[in-house]
Parts: sequence; structure tokens; C-alpha cells
Amino acid sequence: MKEKTLVLIKPDAVSKGLTGNIISEIQALDLKIIGLKIVNVKRELAEKHYEQLKDKPFFENLIKHLTGELHGNENVIAVVFKGQDAISKVRTCAGDTHPEKAIPNSLRGKYGRVHSETHCFENVLHASDSKESAEKEIFLWFKKEELIE
Ligand code: TYD
Repeated sequence: MKEKTLVLIKPDAVSKGLTGNIISEIQALDLKIIGLKIVNVKRELAEKHYEQLKDKPFFENLIKHLTGELHGNENVIAVVFKGQDAISKVRTCAGDTHPEKAIPNSLRGKYGRVHSETHCFENVLHASDSKESAEKEIFLWFKKEELIE
């Protein structure tokens, strides 16, 4: 079944110059880009994106990470991919949420780290985890007319 999924290449990855590597690995899963942009993420958008985590102890650092505050105000690259089983394929390629638990050849296993002072998971990318969240997240980050299907 063809699905759409949102990928956010997070500021840690953008600052390390990993945007191209991440996009090529995901495209190699036979998925097509139908939307792409660079976003200077404001606190309001970051808080909406992660609103279900607002009571977690790591929430403040998570917001600082996504807004680029922990990485010299670096931006986020937002991409919508479409294709067969896009959601599960991208989640598998991304790897475990915790970079040190992620399998070594997943994107988070290869490129992620836990920051030694903030303990923030610098885990390289966000990927939608279900059809419902993909739908909600895609329209939080993109207008309908920005997607070319
Ligand atoms: P979550 O939605 O649980 O994971 P995923 O990104 O794999 O869907 O968490 C959102 C982000 O919060 C996660 O990518 C990194 C951060 N995070 C921490 O910094 N510390 C933690 O203990 C957890 C669970 C998440």
C-alpha cells in the first residue's frame, strides 16, 4: 500500500553535512520525494510537533534541539516521501530512538550520539511512526500545494 511519511533531518545532521547521505539512503528504499524544504524552526512549531511529549523531562532539550539552539541555529530539512510501506521502511532505516541502541548500519546507529552534557538524543532524523501521525505531521510542516504527487 502506498503511503506518505514525514522526515525531518534535524539540526545535528544538517550541521554535520549529512543531508545528502540521509536523503540518498531513504530514496534507495524505492521511495519518491513529493515535498522538500528548509525550515528555520520556531519554538511554536517545535512544540506543536512534539506536543505529545510535553510532560517528559527531556522536552526542553528536545525543543532546543529541533529549533537549532543546540547547533548554532542550524535549520531543519523537511521531506515528504511516498511509496510502498513508506512509514515502516523509513522507521527501520532510521533505527532505534536511542542512538546507542540503534543497529550500527541504521541512520541513527551510524550518525547519532547522546550529548555528553545535555543527554539529548542527537538522533539525526524524525520519521513518522504511523499513518495517523504522518497525516497530521505532513500538514503541520507543509501546505497542500507544496506537495507534488
Ligand atoms: P519519540 O517520539 O519517543 O521517538 P522517535 O523520534 O523515535 O519517534 O521521541 C521523540 C524524540 O525525543 C526522539 O527522537 C529523541 C528525543 N528523546 C530524548 O531526547 N530522550 C529520550 O529519553 C526519549 C525517549 C526521546
